[in-house]
Amino acid sequence: MAVTAVVGLQWGDEGKGKLVDALAARADYVVRYASGSNAGHTVIVNGRRFVFHIIPSGILHERTTCLVCRGVAFDPESFFSELKSLQEAGIAYENRLWISRRAHLVLPLHKLEDEALDRLLGIGTTKRGVGPCYADRAYRLGVRVIDLYCPTTLRQRIRTLLEVKSPLLRKAQIEPPSFDDLFSWCEDVARRLQRFVADTAGILQKALSSGAEILLEGAQGVMLDIDHGTYPYVTSCHPATDGISSGCGINIVPQRVIGVLKCYTTRVGAGPFPTEEKGDIGETLRRRGGEFGATTSRPRRCGWLDLPALKYACRIAAPTHLFVTKLDVLAELEKIKVCSAYRIGADVLTEFPADISVLEKVEPLFREFCGWGDVKGVEAFSRLPSQALEFLAFIEEELGVEVGGVSVGSERMELLERQT
Ligand code: IMP
Repeated sequence: MAVTAVVGLQWGDEGKGKLVDALAARADYVVRYASGSNAGHTVIVNGRRFVFHIIPSGILHERTTCLVCRGVAFDPESFFSELKSLQEAGIAYENRLWISRRAHLVLPLHKLEDEALDRLLGIGTTKRGVGPCYADRAYRLGVRVIDLYCPTTLRQRIRTLLEVKSPLLRKAQIEPPSFDDLFSWCEDVARRLQRFVADTAGILQKALSSGAEILLEGAQGVMLDIDHGTYPYVTSCHPATDGISSGCGINIVPQRVIGVLKCYTTRVGAGPFPTEEKGDIGETLRRRGGEFGATTSRPRRCGWLDLPALKYACRIAAPTHLFVTKLDVLAELEKIKVCSAYRIGADVLTEFPADISVLEKVEPLFREFCGWGDVKGVEAFSRLPSQALEFLAFIEEELGVEVGGVSVGSERMELLERQT
């Protein structure tokens, strides 16, 4: 299969990093096309934990070429710190990691602005400056990677940015950086980044023509998409299939789209969450699933699987396969619930509502499944306990998409592909 995309179908944190790492073993190129260092993709290899925010999770396989394309809000601070952890782990990345010259930079100013704006909006952003970076792109105020190498443009942009942003920051009692500090920050980034800067769309074009195996790594999930998600409690881009061509800079249509979902639901930050469990069950899921943000360490809100939300996400992302993660987390539970519809007043909704004030009021209608016990150490999909297979068959039928595999633990090897 020449082009495969891995996308999240929930509110992010579905376990995409682990799957990308596994699929990267057979890929020539691994590509990030959207979002920024708000994403946190975790890969655990032999007990060693890597968290990638900007660098594609396929970097651990040394035969891959990794691309950070145009659509990524590029955070140099995160990038350099991820390089450092690769260096410490002895992973060679020179000449196999490229950053688009057209990507917009997340400046320190954007992180301050994110902080100031979130105090007003209460979305609970990751404060990684991603929203303000994309907003400046639309305002035509942004600084792209290529602009780092044109001092006249750079000076002009920084001057305008400070003029526009300083009043907002001061209103939030945040002191804006000085022109000199911001300019010298950019000069330092320009120097350290230069050897990674490339025409990533051109590289991808050649890769496509040569029939190379390309793996597109989505970030977050459909329910956090700026247009399709629970607006305004969303991120600021199209992190799933919608963002692929525009984010890559060439028209690229994946033949295989793997929609990743956890067998329960989590969400970080504010916003409606119909199946949220605020009591003991939520706490158990959080503890057993290690549900703390990979980027901000915030405890994730936890609840049961939500099929109306997933059906809606499938309509948007059009997955050809599903990959269901963290089956091991539900292992100890006697009863496992799945929300199959919502009730509001006397009405039953099977569709995901566009109006979040409706979503905030719905009551989930659950179907119950028996727990499946321990799945650690299960070596083949077909050997999963019958209760787990029944649960997976139900999801498959409801969503109309085949389950292509599952994960049963956090280690690289704890992943079961379904043999067809
Ligand atoms: P932002 O993307 O930092 O602007 O945050 C907007 C919303 O998206 C907040 O609710 C964040 O918690 C959420 N968010 C952003 N990135 C991720 C992620 O990778 N996983 C889960 N939630 C995320």
